[in-house]
Parts: sequence; structure tokens; C-alpha cells
Amino acid sequence: MNAILLQSATDQLDDVGSMASEVAKGLSASPKQLPSKFFYDAEGSRLFEEICRQPEYYLTRTEIGILVRFGGDIARVVGPHSRIVEFGSGSGVKTRLLIRSLAEPAVYAPVEISPDALKESLVALRREFPGLPITPVVGDFTQPLRLPVSSSIARRTVVFFPGSTIGNFDKAGALRVLRNIRGTVGSTGGALVGIDLRKDVAQTEAAYNDAAGVTARFTLNMLAHLNTAVGTDFDLTRFAHRARYNVAAGRIETYLISLDDQTVLLQGATYKFKRDEAMLVEYSHKYTIGEFEALAARAALSLRNVWTDDLKRFAIVYLSGKRPGVDA
Ligand code: AVI
Repeated sequence: MNAILLQSATDQLDDVGSMASEVAKGLSASPKQLPSKFFYDAEGSRLFEEICRQPEYYLTRTEIGILVRFGGDIARVVGPHSRIVEFGSGSGVKTRLLIRSLAEPAVYAPVEISPDALKESLVALRREFPGLPITPVVGDFTQPLRLPVSSSIARRTVVFFPGSTIGNFDKAGALRVLRNIRGTVGSTGGALVGIDLRKDVAQTEAAYNDAAGVTARFTLNMLAHLNTAVGTDFDLTRFAHRARYNVAAGRIETYLISLDDQTVLLQGATYKFKRDEAMLVEYSHKYTIGEFEALAARAALSLRNVWTDDLKRFAIVYLSGKRPGVDA
């Protein structure tokens, strides 16, 4: 297992180089935009955990409630001796709840781009499930995946992709991830995906504008992260967080707003911001079940089950790789 978790110093330099060029590209674009993956340094991950505990951010606790309430049903649909492939490293409550409710899962395979996050996530899992074979993969689940062969025989593969993380991709990106899921599970497997459902503007916007200001700190932390990681000189006091619900597109759009005319330096190049200029840093898509079913169908996945909370705020859906009348 260690072989796939090691990252050389040269790899790390390459990472910094490619991150700097992604930042340069985003700052040169019109309108400017930076990918939301740059939120997650250690402080960003800590702030995200804090967001999940805010009263306005209903997503996490609602999804956990669904896993607790419908664990038995979910386990029946997933079936015994399944290989569970998690997209993202699930250190937390949700992974443990799922594995606890399943009947003898054959193997657990988290797929995570950050070797450190992956390593960390496995500590608690190994402790709680010492007999469960784990085959971690450092990899990008937006790209076609090659999973390691495990010695335990699995009846089928089921991808677990909770948290409404699929909502952070634009429609083309979400389709790419769903196609990767289909490629991973084939026609015999399926996927459990957590999606945030469309609801009224006030509730949706409140979740991204908590009164304690944690989400605002999370958004601004992206700039601190970039200052450390690629040497930009963003002044955090001269930007503000703004999150608005675009009802037509069904998504929260999060921006960093420049409070002044100002310039930012990166590797000797200067990038100008106008006062009130908005730089897009995240989409958080909300779906109706019908919209998500249609998107999944384009990836040859058919919607089989929907588990939701009483207020229908969030859903965990089961998508099957087997399409009625198409796959044997
Ligand atoms: C991780 N992801 C699903 C969160 C979301 O709701 O889009 C990230 C987040 N951004 C601001 N608050 C939470």
C-alpha cells in the first residue's frame, strides 16, 4: 500500500508549478475564476468541518440522518460482499455509518488526490474495521480510473460519493464524473450519490452565508492558501465573500469580490482587479430528482432508489449500471 502513497520532492515541485499555472490562467480569464479545489489546505479543511456544524448548513447533518434512518435499506440495495469505492477520502462519520450498516463488505477502496488526506482518513477506519481489506488509491476520480486488484472476491462494485460534492462540478464535469462511475462499476454495480435538492432561495443562500461568518472565512482562506502555496500576494482585507443562488441554473455561485482597484502579483506577473470585480470560486449545484436522473442517464446509469429526509432537502440516490432493456 505504501508504494502508492509516496510522493517524491520532484512530484511536489511539479504540483506547485501546475498549481501556479492554473492560478495564472484563472486570474487572466475574463471574468476571473479559480477552482474550488484551492479551498482545501489544512486550514480550509478545518473550516469546512466547522461549516458542517453551522445551523444554516443543513447538508451534512441531513445526509447523516438519511444514512442512519435508511442504513438497512441501503445495505439491501448495495448487497453483501460488495467492493465499496469512495470518491474522495471518507475519514468521517458517513463512511463509517455506511460500512457499519453493510453486510460483510468485501473491500473498501477510497480514491483521493491528496496522499496526506488519504493516509489520515485511513487511521480511524482501520481501527474500527480491522478485518476490512482496504485498497487506497491516490488518484483523480474525474479521470478514468484503474483500481488495484484485491485478493478478496467482491460480487459487485458500488461507488460511494456523498456530501453533494458532485454539486461542485459544472454540468459537463458532473457528467464526466458520472461516466467514470459507470466505467468503474460496469453493468453489475452501482453508485450511492448524495445530492442537495432544489429548495427556496432563502434557505439555500443562508447555508452559504452563515451568521457566524465561517463560510466567509473559508472562502477568503483560498487566498491565504494561494499566498503560501504559489507566492501570490493577495491582501485578504481587500476581498469579501459573496454567495448568491442563481435560480435558473440551480446553483449557489460563490465569488470573491475585490473591495478596491488593486493588483496581485504572481511569479513576476501583475493581475489587475477593479473595485467590485467578482472572481468566481465555487459552484454548488442543487438538483431536482428528475434533473439528476436525466443527467445520470446520459452516463448510462439508471436511477433506482431515492432516500430523502422528511423536508426533502437532501437525497441519497442509488444509480444502477444496469439499464432496463439495454444491459443483460
Ligand atoms: C464540499 N461541498 C459539497 C460544499 C458545498 O456545499 O458546495 C463546499 C462548501 N462551500 C461552501 N460551503 C460549503
